Amino acid sequence: MASDSHHPTKLRSRDWFGKRDRWGLAHRAWLRAEGFSEHVFDGKPVIGICNSWSELNNCNAHLRQVAEAVKRGVWEAGGFPLEFNTISLGEMLMKPTTMLYRNLMAMEVEECIRAYPLDGVVLLCGCDKTTPAQLMGAASVDVPALMVPGGPMLSGMWHGRELAAGTDVRKMWEEVRAGRLGEEEWCEIESCVSRSAGHCTVMGTASTMAGLAEGLGMTLPGAADIPAADSRRLMIAEESGRRVVDMVKEDLRPSCIMTAAALENAVRLLMALGGSTNAIVHLVAIAGRLGVNLPLSLFDEVARTTPVIANVKPSGKFLMEEFSYAGGVAAVLKEISPLLHLDALTASGESLGENLKRAACFNREVIKPLNEPLFPQGGVVILKGNLAPQGAVIKQSATSPHLMKHRGRAVVFQNNQDLLARIDDPDLQVDENSVLVLKNAGPHGAPGMPEWGHLPIPAKLLKAGVKDMVRLSDARISGTSFGTIVVHISPESAVGGPLAIVQDGDEIELDVPARRLELLVSTAAIKTRLAQWKPPAPHYTRGYGKLFLDHILQAHEGCDFDFLRGADREDGQTPLERYPNPAL
Ligand code: FES
Repeated sequence: MASDSHHPTKLRSRDWFGKRDRWGLAHRAWLRAEGFSEHVFDGKPVIGICNSWSELNNCNAHLRQVAEAVKRGVWEAGGFPLEFNTISLGEMLMKPTTMLYRNLMAMEVEECIRAYPLDGVVLLCGCDKTTPAQLMGAASVDVPALMVPGGPMLSGMWHGRELAAGTDVRKMWEEVRAGRLGEEEWCEIESCVSRSAGHCTVMGTASTMAGLAEGLGMTLPGAADIPAADSRRLMIAEESGRRVVDMVKEDLRPSCIMTAAALENAVRLLMALGGSTNAIVHLVAIAGRLGVNLPLSLFDEVARTTPVIANVKPSGKFLMEEFSYAGGVAAVLKEISPLLHLDALTASGESLGENLKRAACFNREVIKPLNEPLFPQGGVVILKGNLAPQGAVIKQSATSPHLMKHRGRAVVFQNNQDLLARIDDPDLQVDENSVLVLKNAGPHGAPGMPEWGHLPIPAKLLKAGVKDMVRLSDARISGTSFGTIVVHISPESAVGGPLAIVQDGDEIELDVPARRLELLVSTAAIKTRLAQWKPPAPHYTRGYGKLFLDHILQAHEGCDFDFLRGADREDGQTPLERYPNPAL
């Protein structure tokens, strides 16, 4: 068996496979049951391919094929690839929300990497939460890791016009509710909107998080946005397989890449992309694993000095396929490079600045120049006020200009069921100036902080031509959403945040330019109402749900579990060294 002398650092896998004793034989022999010859144990770095493939998750349905391409690269570079699965979080089918399970997946990723004989990992992600979950897990275990996102689906196409997943379906459903679109057309749309594997076609959460993974330096340059069905997706997967073997030799770990500077680059990129509000929660959670303080105030500061230049739905006009052909995330990074920390180290082994030398923009309609942006300020901004003492979030790039400053009377829904039961009631006391308020939709209240924040416009107002209203909640929204929607109100109503005591008819003031969200009720009345408030019954009393409720942090803290913050690095000691096998 070869020595490990050609590796500057000891391979973790040698603790399992490099010994001549009974346990060494057992570890090798049991794996040889899969048909591997003795040569795979000759000192090759063992590369785990952490796959979130699942038939329950259409966005990630092609990742077995991507994994095969990664394996080719790993073998070619002298590594030994072993693919493993974790839970997969499919945004469409998983209920009540994938956000309830992001931390569970992050735990699984972290513990699988730690417990198995892996020297490096390639992370295969796609649908919204799979990307942050893998980054969080990889950050905490801190074994060399490289991400390969699955890429977006082909653009939706119906009657010769493009259809955006999520965004256009929402718009068309409003047309159906308003009686302007018929049953037959609605059925046709079903087969035209989601045309291949891959994640949603707009700058929603999945596209945003894949982009931020590249901005953080955790992918090879250009990996974020190649369409799932494009052969170049497999080419970059193969290249990533080759690269991760070198990362092991260089001992290039997530903590060397996802530094404070890299996280600030990611926040900057989020703004320039007009990306999803969900990315704020995820970036704060990732930073928490790395011991980096990423306060909401930093997002707002960066938003004020970063224009939106990606002309992609829901903030702009194009879809991810066109965005990728225009140069994609790499071209956006290049355009905003004067605002970035270009010396940040990336998974390529080179700095971000070096990577960007090869980036170019091929369509100025899709990726705007820095001096002619789509919006002069970042898409996502942070609000504060007596209704959101720890902050709230609004995507100003998808907001109606006439509602950026607005005062209106609250129409309150106690929870999602209440909303569904009454929103289309012809007797609902609501007009276009009302502020729709949804309570009990946060991490504890919903549970899991689902994407319920896109409250529907009441049908009677839709029919009257109202297209947008101010809407508030402690929920999240899909990255595909649009409209004047305030979300992530923190603390949430279910733990006694001020949102809990808003009543029908209360006046609320939203002032996006001033970053204010105020309940125009006297401080004394707020105090009295809060003193009388009683928390709702918990959703779970056992199992994972109870663990979630006992340990979930609020939105401004990233919704991680309190006990998962920080890392548990090995400092050279694998689980086998710490907990040796029993003696013979
Ligand atoms: Fe998976 Fe939209 S449903 S990214």
